[in-house]
Amino acid sequence: MTGRATASDAAALDAADPLAGCRERFVLGPETAYLDGNSLGRPLAVTAEALARFTRDDWGGRLIRGWDEQWVELPTELGDRLGSILLGAAPGQTIVGDSTSVLLYKLARAAVDAAPAGRDEIVLSDDDFPTDRYLLEGIAAETGRTLRWIPTDRAGGVSVEQAAAAVGPRTALVVLSHVTYRSGYLADAAAVTGVAHDAGAPVLWDLCHSVGSVPVELDGWGADLAVGCTYKYLGGGPGAPAFAYVARRHHGVLRQPIQGWFGRADPFAMAAGYEPAAGIRQFLSGTPPVLATVPLQVGLDLYAEVGIDAVRAKSVALTRFAVGIADDLGLELASPRDLDRRGGHVTLRHPDAQALVATLWERGVIPDYRAPDGIRLGLAPLSTSFAEVASGFEVLAELVAGQAHQLR
Ligand SMILES: Cc1ncc(COP(=O)(O)O)c(C=O)c1O
Repeated sequence: MTGRATASDAAALDAADPLAGCRERFVLGPETAYLDGNSLGRPLAVTAEALARFTRDDWGGRLIRGWDEQWVELPTELGDRLGSILLGAAPGQTIVGDSTSVLLYKLARAAVDAAPAGRDEIVLSDDDFPTDRYLLEGIAAETGRTLRWIPTDRAGGVSVEQAAAAVGPRTALVVLSHVTYRSGYLADAAAVTGVAHDAGAPVLWDLCHSVGSVPVELDGWGADLAVGCTYKYLGGGPGAPAFAYVARRHHGVLRQPIQGWFGRADPFAMAAGYEPAAGIRQFLSGTPPVLATVPLQVGLDLYAEVGIDAVRAKSVALTRFAVGIADDLGLELASPRDLDRRGGHVTLRHPDAQALVATLWERGVIPDYRAPDGIRLGLAPLSTSFAEVASGFEVLAELVAGQAHQLR
């Protein structure tokens, strides 16, 4: 495919894209191609007004009364909304707050503590996102458990067969990413959950790279636990609060380790001694980050309008387009070719990846570098056009071909 053919293909795909109009609703900067919406999503233009309105009317207008009137219930009400729009979770099982790392710790620690005697292994991938690995190393050290690492293909992910081989009567907990941060591998979550359950173990899914790009059916999978962040596809903004899902059957059984006042029954009684709140509220700890949920709320409005199936269809088309160009350019793909096993981003492998990405950034093309040799292209379906992808590849092709390259 020549540059011109790629551009005209992109124009045709944009013209036929039912979600094309969504892009204009985001704040679009001067960059040529933003290919990192899976690290930090673009803001919706309405976010600025929503934040101003919140500051003026809710915070400034209601002051401390806002807590009783709306904010105390916000972590669960927003969790329910997220659960219904994007997680396939019935109400009463999802909260919004903390960071993914903190929630991952809370849920994993609770599950490991609740595991029956003899279940002393935590199963995880040796290529999972660093925070997952570090937190589980810490939990294993704190609780005297052992880590069972699943050796994972850097261009793929953990298959059902690998998961089945790793679990057994000693498994306390399985922790895996639904879409892996490096390759974009999309796990068969229902099947993996099934094999873990057959071995008597619960599964904690990290949904950071899947929420808002692929359909998630936590209740349908029979999932036990899940966490994820909202600053990628959902437009929550830098450092936006995360979410946690705990299946109803585990409420009152699991006991999370950060027992702050917001997770206590009747927190405003300020009573002696900690007693967990009923239901999902027991997984809260401290004052919820109300202000920081405003961008997420407008992000969810857009998802409610367009629906995740349309988003996934666009995502599949975007990654297919990107992989097609990469193949034509002879670039090495380090992501699954099978569309059913591929999430919303693709990674290319190149020995000069770090220098290439630095030069791409200077040229207004913004992918992510993933050590040691990955150029990761995050294709946020609601805010990325096919033309943008084509423009990004045009610069990458120039650099790789050694034309106009100034590698540092
Ligand atoms: C898969 C995955 N898990 C966990 C995290 C960590 O989230 P946080 O730094 O918000 O705690 C990230 C962040 O990018 C991630 O991609």
